[in-house]
Amino acid sequence: MNIKRTTTKLTPFCAGLLLFVSCNQASKTEVTLKDYGAEPTVINIDAYTMSNSNFRTALWTGVNLQSTLMSIPVGGDVGLEKHPTTDQFLRIEEGTAQVVMGDTETSLTFVKTAEKDFAIFVPAGKWHNIINTGNKPLKLYSIYSPVQHPHGTVHQTQEEAEEAEEAENQRYFNKNENFMTQELIQLPYATNALAPAISKQTIEFHHGKHLQGYVNNLKNLIQGTEFANADLETIIRESDGAIFNNAGQILNHNLYFTQFSPTGGGKPAGRLAQAIDAAYGSFENFQKEFEAAGVSLFGSGWVWLAADRDGKLSITKESNAGNPLTKGLKPILTFDVWEHAYYLDFQNRRADQLKSLWIIVDWKIVESRY
Ligand SMILES: [Fe+2]
Repeated sequence: MNIKRTTTKLTPFCAGLLLFVSCNQASKTEVTLKDYGAEPTVINIDAYTMSNSNFRTALWTGVNLQSTLMSIPVGGDVGLEKHPTTDQFLRIEEGTAQVVMGDTETSLTFVKTAEKDFAIFVPAGKWHNIINTGNKPLKLYSIYSPVQHPHGTVHQTQEEAEEAEEAENQRYFNKNENFMTQELIQLPYATNALAPAISKQTIEFHHGKHLQGYVNNLKNLIQGTEFANADLETIIRESDGAIFNNAGQILNHNLYFTQFSPTGGGKPAGRLAQAIDAAYGSFENFQKEFEAAGVSLFGSGWVWLAADRDGKLSITKESNAGNPLTKGLKPILTFDVWEHAYYLDFQNRRADQLKSLWIIVDWKIVESRY
């Protein structure tokens, strides 16, 4: 959302002389409130902060750092929260606040008053809140490292911010994971490296033609829609029809291609191995059930090993572009049972393809998803 405003502000020269001479010179700062993204940007942050009347407006979202503008109404607060791995800097441009921080939600032993021109540093892992104790909106800007909110975030009210945070908590994947890319993913191995489980020719068609097609389609479909700046997980959770199908196929293929390695094979270890034993009795039994699910899937689709929020595993079959995310499950491992995944190498022998894939599964990668 772009909001254009113009603020009138005394130049520093005028402001400095104001006490001594009458000075009517003023500079006009044109303010366009939007997320400038990871672009070179120079702005008058004071004018931008004063112009913002949303609870939160993302101003600049880079790769490692983000700036947001906040306006906290009289009697309101930022909201008691903790960012486990994010440091935060805030600067108050107008208003008066009480700043509280602590190690737990109930022991906020650090208490300070802050006002215009004060800076607040919040270390990662500290519970914190900033309460507007003045009689006008508290105007501040915040800098997060790493990025905290999606690019282009606008929360008009605190309620809207809390709803978005709730949705964020339901997510399974970090937006920065390599498999979350909407561009054609780079394969972490040479196109001939997975043969004979998957031939060079199949990889070249599957990755270079089929996946590239989904990437091109999604780009065209989301242009100008509410999903234009959304990540794959959000699109899959919230869309349907062609947008869902193409976003689903991109994430499914990204998870598929990145789970293989020419030095793969063997068995999982650690927590995942224990969970597989608990759910299927043994790894060998799990393999049998997984292959059987893939073989019995009618038409095109994907067979998945997925986990619920307690880590309980299940094997699910999904038609077409389906993904366990839509059932509230986290995708861990997947075999593609669309014919385009194996027809050049195995023709109609889907079972043989599924059986052959085990020797290239990189269990370290799969374990990292669990
Ligand atoms: Fe595929």
